[in-house]
Amino acid sequence: MQKISVSSIRKKKGKEKITMITAYDALMAKIFDGEVEVILVGDSLAMSFGGYKDTLSINMDNMLYHTMAVKRGVQHSLIVADMPFGSYNSPKQALKNATKLYQQGGADAIKLEGGLERLKHIQLLTQSGIAVMAHIGLKPQFVRAEGGYKIQGKDDVQISTLKQEVEAFNQVGVFAIVLEGVKSEVAAKLTKISDVPIIGIGSGKEVDGQVLVWSDAFGFFEEFQPRFVRRYLEGRKLLKQAIQEFAADIKNGYFPSDQESY
Ligand code: KIV
Repeated sequence: MQKISVSSIRKKKGKEKITMITAYDALMAKIFDGEVEVILVGDSLAMSFGGYKDTLSINMDNMLYHTMAVKRGVQHSLIVADMPFGSYNSPKQALKNATKLYQQGGADAIKLEGGLERLKHIQLLTQSGIAVMAHIGLKPQFVRAEGGYKIQGKDDVQISTLKQEVEAFNQVGVFAIVLEGVKSEVAAKLTKISDVPIIGIGSGKEVDGQVLVWSDAFGFFEEFQPRFVRRYLEGRKLLKQAIQEFAADIKNGYFPSDQESY
């Protein structure tokens, strides 16, 4: 199996759905590698891995550490690293930090959240040879400013803003766009006007691909479960059972057995 490239992702538009999942370490990345086209080192790691209440508390050092770990586990899938909150306030800062994710982290592409206010940032990155995935719609890094996670595409103003963002980001050369928490019928229309793939999360099925956070999809994160998450495994329950069995076996003297001893 060949390494997935940015251009192969772009070419899937209209032909084949794109699959993407998060991973934050080499252990999980190795399991997911080659099963999905894209592995996202998402800043969601702040919540599902770091125990923070939102994604705003992690920095470039954290993202670099996790991107390097994922890189060590991946041979085939495309690795996209999230730019954390506060790491791309100006085009110059965006370039400096995206370059770090490329050079030190080994990412194949970066993802950043934002609307037209980030157009210049994205343009500088793409002109500098960095592959960019934009993230529009519901933007978790804005949760504190907006006072919650709000579904987008609900009125004409929001729809027109999303349309402008899709058109502008296509023009400055992003290779894909993550569309989060957008009404399905709006997501379907945006997918039609975009030349690059639209990868949805909580945006219905008429998009070019889907992404989920791995700990949501496999039942490890139980603090809350958004409606758009489908659980493919009851991970937490299974692991709880296993750890209880392990502890009980030690207490009862069943572990280790003679065969497990030298
Ligand atoms: O950080 C993340 O995991 C993400 C996905 C939800 C798309 O941005």
